[in-house]
Amino acid sequence: MIGSDQKYAAELLMQGELVAIPTETVYGLAANALNEDAVINIFEAKQRPKFDPLIVHTHDVSEFEKFAIIESDLVYQLAERFCPGPITFILPKRDIIPDIVTSGHETVGLRIPNHQLTLDLLKRLSFPLAAPSANPFGFTSPTTALHVQNQLGEKIPYILDGGKCEVGIESTIVKVVDDEVEVLRLGGISVEEIESVIGKRVKRVKTSSSNPAAPGMLSSHYNPGVKVEVGDIEKLLSEHRNQKVGILAFDNNRYESFENVTEAKVLSPTGSLSEAAQNLFSYLRDFQNSDIDILIAEPAPAKGLG
Ligand code: TXA
Ligand code: MG
Repeated sequence: MIGSDQKYAAELLMQGELVAIPTETVYGLAANALNEDAVINIFEAKQRPKFDPLIVHTHDVSEFEKFAIIESDLVYQLAERFCPGPITFILPKRDIIPDIVTSGHETVGLRIPNHQLTLDLLKRLSFPLAAPSANPFGFTSPTTALHVQNQLGEKIPYILDGGKCEVGIESTIVKVVDDEVEVLRLGGISVEEIESVIGKRVKRVKTSSSNPAAPGMLSSHYNPGVKVEVGDIEKLLSEHRNQKVGILAFDNNRYESFENVTEAKVLSPTGSLSEAAQNLFSYLRDFQNSDIDILIAEPAPAKGLG
């Protein structure tokens, strides 16, 4: 069921049930992070492998110390600037966080989502919320309540509707090690923004299935259910002349009229990186049910959110 009854959502969560929650990045599939049985339901509903740890959501930085050990002031500097917001901190965990949440790792991911409905919900609760993105494992993340309903509706008693996610891509995941900031996953806060706060370069940790610094960063991820190739649109179009092609362009809408193009979408006609991020998962989903053989996507400019 979809609705905006925050009190009902809180009651369900207190009973150990699952509730999908809105955040500024993507919708999350939430459960009481301190209740192992509730957390197991998340893995089951998502069909998520148990080796992939969950992010724990709280409403204030003052809560972080309850769940993790903060050794570097850089965490507070970054939190002061970006929280609530699309950043997740990987920190040494305290015992109160069950191993199932962190997949047995000694660290926990903490984040304060920037969405009023969910912040109010978190304030109402006496526990933090473990929440991965509310999509079946490996598929595109949801940015509206309806996206959640379509994929997981039958498995979740309640979807708290907070409208369309403003950022549209997941949080940036950072780990502070020996006063260096490592970025494990790119997301809603750019590397440049982080560097401007800490006054030095960050380390980009390249993750892969064989080097799972952020264990969820597998080689197949965000699968929209259709073959996707990313690169120069015209070059790729010439390679797929005999196929029905969908186009996901960054800012240019001239591909609609090309001969074998079934449908073309533009992430941001004005070339805005934030608008493109907001539309990315939603547009990928639109191609999921369309009658194309391949989706050709253009990379966004490689700076900031791009
Ligand atoms: O924006 C977001 O971060 C959204 C919203 C719902 O908050 N959540 C999200 O969760 O993207 P999920 O589960 O789809 O992705 C979390 C990523 C996974 O790649 C996971 O492996 C990584 O965070 N992660 C979680 N805890 C970790 C830890 N202790 N060490 C390393 N990586 C961790
Ligand atoms: Mg996810």
